[in-house]
Amino acid sequence: MATAATSHHITSHRQSTDSTTMDKVLLRRAMGRFATGVTVVTTRTPDGKYEGVTANSFNTVSLDPPLVLWSLGRNSASFEGFHAAKHFTVNVLGIGQLPLSRHFSTPKLDKLAGIDHTLGHGGSPVLTGSLAHFECETKSIIDGGDHVIFIGRVINASCREGDPLVFAKGGYHRAVTLVEEITS
Ligand SMILES: Cc1cc2nc3c(=O)[nH]c(=O)nc-3n(C[C@H](O)[C@H](O)[C@H](O)COP(=O)(O)O)c2cc1C
Repeated sequence: MATAATSHHITSHRQSTDSTTMDKVLLRRAMGRFATGVTVVTTRTPDGKYEGVTANSFNTVSLDPPLVLWSLGRNSASFEGFHAAKHFTVNVLGIGQLPLSRHFSTPKLDKLAGIDHTLGHGGSPVLTGSLAHFECETKSIIDGGDHVIFIGRVINASCREGDPLVFAKGGYHRAVTLVEEITS
């Protein structure tokens, strides 16, 4: 059992004073302790515009049927486009693609201009050199507070050898192997 001193040590960061209003600084800092990969989610909108957004909210959901999810801020410039498109591609970035993460997280009029890609399901761009990609049909769009959650059914996927780009504590990292548990 934790002593009072131990538990004080564990929770010594800033805390919310009001149980109904989470301290946003604490929340952001705590969420940043959860390391993720980095993806660029792309689409082609019904009126032919290409969109791309850096997203670390991507995760796998189900193998059978094959489902993945990611969330997009309601205030994003690309929100209407992803909502209307009915399909998207998730591009998983390798460490050599850090500049692409910065590129797609900075607002621009035409984010795909000058970026090597091919066109996947529904015309969603597949970024050349990505570590993996998932071409998806949008299955559901779920309310997620100031974000919406997109669930997609995977239609096509690919992967290649390389090191994944890791995002944690507000910065970019390379994964270091501690123990090999599953070989794939
Ligand atoms: C590492 C990283 C991860 C991000 N993850 C997300 C995310 O999951 N969802 C989101 O809406 N924005 C995320 N962002 C912010 C968007 O990439 C950024 O707001 C972008 O400008 C949105 O594109 P848009 O303005 O063209 O819609 C992330 C940014 C970075 C650097």
